[in-house]
Amino acid sequence: MIRHFISLSDGGAEGLAAILADAGERKQARAGLPKGRADHDAPLDGRVLAMVFEKSSTRTRVSFDVAMRQLGGSAIVLDAGTMQLGRGETIADTARVLSRMADAIMLRTDDHAKIEELQRHATVPVINGLTDLSHPCQIMAELLTIVERGKPLAGLEMAWLGDGNNVAYSLIEAAGLLGFNIRLGVAEGFDCDAAVVDEARARGAQIAVFRDANVAVKGAHVVVTDTWVSMGQSDGDVRIGAMAPYQVNAQLMALADPSAMFLHCLPAHRGEEVTDAVIDGPQSAVWDEAENRIHAQKSVLRWVFGQI
Ligand code: CP
Ligand code: NVA
Repeated sequence: MIRHFISLSDGGAEGLAAILADAGERKQARAGLPKGRADHDAPLDGRVLAMVFEKSSTRTRVSFDVAMRQLGGSAIVLDAGTMQLGRGETIADTARVLSRMADAIMLRTDDHAKIEELQRHATVPVINGLTDLSHPCQIMAELLTIVERGKPLAGLEMAWLGDGNNVAYSLIEAAGLLGFNIRLGVAEGFDCDAAVVDEARARGAQIAVFRDANVAVKGAHVVVTDTWVSMGQSDGDVRIGAMAPYQVNAQLMALADPSAMFLHCLPAHRGEEVTDAVIDGPQSAVWDEAENRIHAQKSVLRWVFGQI
């Protein structure tokens, strides 16, 4: 059976824990090496990853490319606009062709149904590099950043501020799978999908919803936010107006646990969802989180190839 990584549930609790452990070990083992040098065991020697982007990217694009180099393989970056996909070739046919030419496919797209369609027709693993619904690879990097700073996930209290978006979706999914709790401080009208919240609760996570940002962050061990206007959204002015009370600034961070860390998937919109004082401050771990995209995804790649 082909292993895909479309959602965190594909990994399951055991798979995600194994990916995180592997990522931490491999990161330590190659400390100090030039970024493009392969790990000593080059576990994906000769493998090719095809990456298809229907949306902009800096981190996902570079981190998957570097990840493949460090694993001993290589990556091809394809912008949908310059592919035949952009001229009407079907996703199904694209999946069939890329499956003959590459060993795995990563897709960043808008409608989640598109990655499901790709998965149905691919005969190699498909990895989700972000859809309008979810961003599982980002959450693996986020969790790696938390555990490497010595915070165990079980029982952790995380606060999510602002928009109930794709990144929040995957974070909630992770909470259900790995046993941590989330305090959602989300603007009215921009709530997280109720079915996702219910599923995480059914798995045992406490997911609390607050309209007051001050209450949402109270005592949190980790404070997380993301842009108020995601790629492809056209109602930016409405969103920025509604989410203004959820800005993560120094006053808000002061209400979290004194040891709290600040995380953000990036790109940040400084002065909107987060202030300079917080993102550049001592509690911020956003640059570690960005680097950890490489380390977490290396282990996601090893997992889809059945090496973990
Ligand atoms: N966080 C993230 O996915 O960044 P990019 O959009 O730059 O890939
Ligand atoms: N929620 C953001 C995440 C970017 C990495 C977006 O979808 O644009």
